[in-house]
Amino acid sequence: MAFSSHSSLVDFGNYHVTKGIARLVDGIITKGEGSYVTFEDGRTMLDFSSGIGVTNFGHCHAKISGAAAEQCMKLVHGQCSIAFHGPYLQLIERLLPMMPHPSLDSFFFWNSGSEAVEGAIKLARNVTGRQNIITMQGAYHGRTFGAMAVTRSKTIYSEGFHPLMPGVFTLPFPYWHQLGRSPDTPSSELSAFCLDQLALLLSQQSSPRDTAAIIIESVIGEGGYVPAPPEFLHGLREVCDKHGILLIIDEVQSGYGRTGKNFAIEYSGVRPDIMTVAKGLANGFPLSAVISRKELTDQLKAGSMGGTYAGNAVACAAAVAVADVMKEERILDNVNARSAELFSALNTLRADPKLGPCILDVRGQGLMVAVEFASPVGTSPHDPFINSTMPEKLASRVAKRCVQKGMLILTTSVYETIRFIPPLNISKEDLAKGCKIFAEAVEEIVREG
Ligand SMILES: Cc1ncc(COP(=O)(O)O)c(C=O)c1O
Repeated sequence: MAFSSHSSLVDFGNYHVTKGIARLVDGIITKGEGSYVTFEDGRTMLDFSSGIGVTNFGHCHAKISGAAAEQCMKLVHGQCSIAFHGPYLQLIERLLPMMPHPSLDSFFFWNSGSEAVEGAIKLARNVTGRQNIITMQGAYHGRTFGAMAVTRSKTIYSEGFHPLMPGVFTLPFPYWHQLGRSPDTPSSELSAFCLDQLALLLSQQSSPRDTAAIIIESVIGEGGYVPAPPEFLHGLREVCDKHGILLIIDEVQSGYGRTGKNFAIEYSGVRPDIMTVAKGLANGFPLSAVISRKELTDQLKAGSMGGTYAGNAVACAAAVAVADVMKEERILDNVNARSAELFSALNTLRADPKLGPCILDVRGQGLMVAVEFASPVGTSPHDPFINSTMPEKLASRVAKRCVQKGMLILTTSVYETIRFIPPLNISKEDLAKGCKIFAEAVEEIVREG
């Protein structure tokens, strides 16, 4: 089929690609290079979305894409149920010293974050012989059936798809807005409330002997970029230890350097029983991991885990290169330096007498950072943070304006929140450029009202 123009090709896509996919930009990306993407119509944009936290080392990093290209000419598909392949084992070798706890020594590679979550739930149910899973209010774990069932960030992910997997219970998460508390409420207070709710949940809804696992993101992602307070994570660990419940830490978005540590759970020092990783793991090649301890995974029957493409050789080779680049380029140093600059730029906006009142919160860790705006409508008339003097839909309007100004940036959560997920190796200059675009967009939208 011949397309006479760019717009007819976009129209073709808009017609034939399922409406089930939402899109930030009407356009066709033809090239990605470092922190930038180029569209077929000639637009070049600074990418502060990193393909939703995936191209952490920039688009088409020479060493990572080079490793994948080289692997393509050796072995593309080894198939994990046929035999081992080299990159699979090399990747485990690279990952072992990076683990947040030495007990995490057993690996299963899959393709997507959702699949990793499915694997974690299956493992937890299998080894505990229990069914129920406790998830967090605001959690996002994916769109496949098990992952969707433990997702609580927005109903769009489950609307029309019920009945969901049964045996899922929801715990309040220590996020001030969801709990109707002010943004400066000490996290210890929020955590104490939620841990008390956990005790109630275990005595009123799901008995410990029926509870297989608690699943939690180290930083709630789709639910608003809210780091889980260390005291909350420690409280969960204690409850899990007391009752033989497994703690699943989902590091799909927060892991692999994103927050300035290899894994965000390191901020608390809490030991996961099972950890899920994906996204930045292979810088854009589809790869995820379910990581646990051998003592647990040895209880699985051979054949109960697997998948045609699980642990693809090209994706694993790319991931080996990612792990090497992370060390060679001292990525964590860059994340922490750029993070300080990003927080400083956002807090400067917050201190501005005109813009400050529009900003309820600046939060996050490393380069997983969010700005939550005030709103005149809230999630309901009872939302205590409704402010009728504020412009409507600040987050989506600011994001759209950033796109017009040449920067890709995403919103998150049911609240008016923008998230910053630039590449982890972004330069000082590009970070400053993105902050300037964002500040201009906020100023313009607030002025327009
Ligand atoms: C914390 C978390 N878990 C799981 C997933 C699902 O990953 P995927 O989209 O690769 O299936 C995501 C995706 O955004 C995520 O952020």
